Amino acid sequence: MKLAIPRETAEGEARVAASPETVKKLIALGLDVVVEAGAGAGASLADDLYKAAGAAIATGAAEVLADADIVFKVQRPDHDQLGHMKRGAVLVAMLDPLNRSGDAKAYAAQGIAAFAMELVPRITRAQAMDVVSSQSNLAGYRSVLDAAHEFRRIMPMMMTAAGSMAPARVFVMGVGVAGLQAIATARRLGAVVLATDVRPATKEQVESLGAKFVMVETEESREAETAAGYAKEMSEDYQRQQAALIAETIANQDIVITTALIPGRPAPELISEEMVKSMRPGSVINDLAVEAGGNCALSEPGLVVVRHGVTIIGHVNVPSLVAADASHLYARNLLAFLTPLIDQQTGALDIDWDDEIIKGTGLTRDGAVVHPQLSEGEA
Ligand code: NAI
Repeated sequence: MKLAIPRETAEGEARVAASPETVKKLIALGLDVVVEAGAGAGASLADDLYKAAGAAIATGAAEVLADADIVFKVQRPDHDQLGHMKRGAVLVAMLDPLNRSGDAKAYAAQGIAAFAMELVPRITRAQAMDVVSSQSNLAGYRSVLDAAHEFRRIMPMMMTAAGSMAPARVFVMGVGVAGLQAIATARRLGAVVLATDVRPATKEQVESLGAKFVMVETEESREAETAAGYAKEMSEDYQRQQAALIAETIANQDIVITTALIPGRPAPELISEEMVKSMRPGSVINDLAVEAGGNCALSEPGLVVVRHGVTIIGHVNVPSLVAADASHLYARNLLAFLTPLIDQQTGALDIDWDDEIIKGTGLTRDGAVVHPQLSEGEA
């Protein structure tokens, strides 16, 4: 069976869906791996490294995808790539299915079995396949470095012969995977860290990282976590109380990292223009939720802007800024996903459509859209 690794064509995407390490393991599973020339360049992985791992190198989308039984990608295939995929092929990528339900129809029409890696259920067995965690973790790390880079002061307390400098104050809003890593990174750099979330369970995690926790605790917040561990959208009354707490807190912060997301909904707006105005000039906000609508009213996707003296970072696709490590982890996530689908005796694909992970990620099967979260009648 042939497994193809095409080059990513989306603007600003430097990651790649396989590493030389995972190529070796995919070949050990009995697969023939073909990598498109230059696919790893953005992650500092030269074609020769893939060749040495046992992959064949193909030139162009048509050649790499011709007759491929399995296609690994980071982002959704572009129109040209999709056109070169054969009927019955399996596509594994971050397909952004909830925002692009039309794509699922196209995969179905072409007889492709498409799996969206963002939808891997967060169960213990699937932890090694959890692309959202592997990529958010790196984004959380990088968000602190990007903020520190824009900040015109230093992070740690420093005592020098010319006098001492106070440590930077960092406020992390939203303490999921990215937020926890942001807290740990800011602490390592010597900042004094404060964090907030709507899920009370995060308090202990924040404190175990040496940061201080603040939140609005009400009856509602005790129920703020869904069975899947995500946050719910909060009531207007809660949002008002939360806004008062943030307004009071934010004026004393130097750097604010926001990561708050609600699955399937726009990101909650946590920082208003008034709050930005209350911050000291030279403060920095890094809005990691900018692609989901933003946690800060003034952040702009893809831009670093200065508003009321505050630098507001709106980088998109932050994991791609650390493409080498992001690719290594993503490649391992995909290998972990595929390995149980390959029959060890025959080397053939054997997909159990009743399996929780397959049901959670599978968008299309045998020409039909089958995912319950995609509206009915899409086939
Ligand atoms: P996420 O990316 O969906 O959201 C980030 C954070 O923002 C969350 O902590 C959320 O509670 C918070 N948030 C949402 N609305 C907010 C608001 N209005 N104000 C303040 N904060 C707000 O979350 P992520 O990183 O995907 O993690 C979600 C949960 O999944 C966590 O409990 C995490 O520990 C858990 N998890 C479990 C895994 C497993 O068991 N395999 C793997 C990874 C994560």
